[in-house]
Amino acid sequence: MMTTAAVENLMRAEIVRMTPYIPIKPFPVLSAELGIPIHRIVKLDANENPYGPSPLVYQALANLGNTEVPIYPDPGSTELRQKLAEKLGVEMEMVVTGAGADELIEVLFKLFFSPGDVMINCPPTFGMYTFLGQIYGVKEIVIERDANFQIDLDAVEAAVIQHRAKMVILCAPNNPDGLYLTPGTLERLLKLNTIVLLDEAYVAFTKPNLEAEFGTDNSTRLVAQHPNLVVLRTFSKWAGLAGLRVGYGAATPEVAGYMMAIKQPYNINVAAEAAARASLDDLPRLNTNVQKMLAERERMYAELAQCSSLRALPGSQANFILVEVLNQPAAHLKAELAKRGILVRYFAKKGLDNHFRISVGTPEQTNQLVAALKELA
Ligand SMILES: Cc1ncc(COP(=O)(O)O)c(C=O)c1O
Repeated sequence: MMTTAAVENLMRAEIVRMTPYIPIKPFPVLSAELGIPIHRIVKLDANENPYGPSPLVYQALANLGNTEVPIYPDPGSTELRQKLAEKLGVEMEMVVTGAGADELIEVLFKLFFSPGDVMINCPPTFGMYTFLGQIYGVKEIVIERDANFQIDLDAVEAAVIQHRAKMVILCAPNNPDGLYLTPGTLERLLKLNTIVLLDEAYVAFTKPNLEAEFGTDNSTRLVAQHPNLVVLRTFSKWAGLAGLRVGYGAATPEVAGYMMAIKQPYNINVAAEAAARASLDDLPRLNTNVQKMLAERERMYAELAQCSSLRALPGSQANFILVEVLNQPAAHLKAELAKRGILVRYFAKKGLDNHFRISVGTPEQTNQLVAALKELA
């Protein structure tokens, strides 16, 4: 009989030695761990939408029946992609859908990377890129952001050329600092001989009225002039569908065609597709929630800025704020907040020493957070 160690020896070595992705925990798990009932937990650790989805989503889910649930979903997610194309102002053939933007990042890795190929990543940023890079055997060239979380454009450009990088990953607004790219960055990188993955998971929070997500200047429209651009988005944040896992993206019809061809055939389940379509039918109401979050982000920043033992990063264009803790280990403050049922995201990562990220919640949640910080920080 084989030993467990011998079985592990058969696994890909890069998987056995890789650093795992640390996901956040859902309410029931948190509640059991903290000994605090779910309704008392202030969950500001995963940039979810505190207002939840549109009521039309729950109606659409309740209406699912025997013509949907027992039947495999449409592998082309045709109705959803058609609706998205109309809202974005691009051709349906340019739109891709996935089980979260996470799946679409992975589909791009499958499409473009053979083991040993190079990607350029600019941390601190979303951890999924490094995680998937490890799984796919990608060589990651790290060009760190500066102290103001800005991209070192000259260094990125030089690295693309020197390493013949296949892809540059730009997260904008960047998770965890919330800053968008400085003007001209995207245009300059698009001139290079490389794929530019623009992860706009939080773009809905950059301008009022969902203008950046669906307005006439939305960046999915740039794909028509830039065949090396792929834009990824999600329904997890502005539409409040994180639990149902729906993301979308835009690329040239050729790239989008390959992405649709190599994804898992039934990646968008019937509930997720119905929910995403219902969200697109209720944009004014979802926009009202986004507007409340934008107002709350500014109020939360003003409150945090008054706390002398914290330094909140100004200018977030996303639904979270990065905070540096000045008077104690951030891990300690995070743990003390958690004891009170207030969850924030702490990263023990280079470039984020003693920082944590706080998602924008409801006004009541901000009040609880600020009261606890006044006591603890
Ligand atoms: C920058 C960024 N991209 C993508 C995602 C993944 O989004 P989804 O829930 O659609 O998989 C997240 C989730 O937090 C994110 O922060």
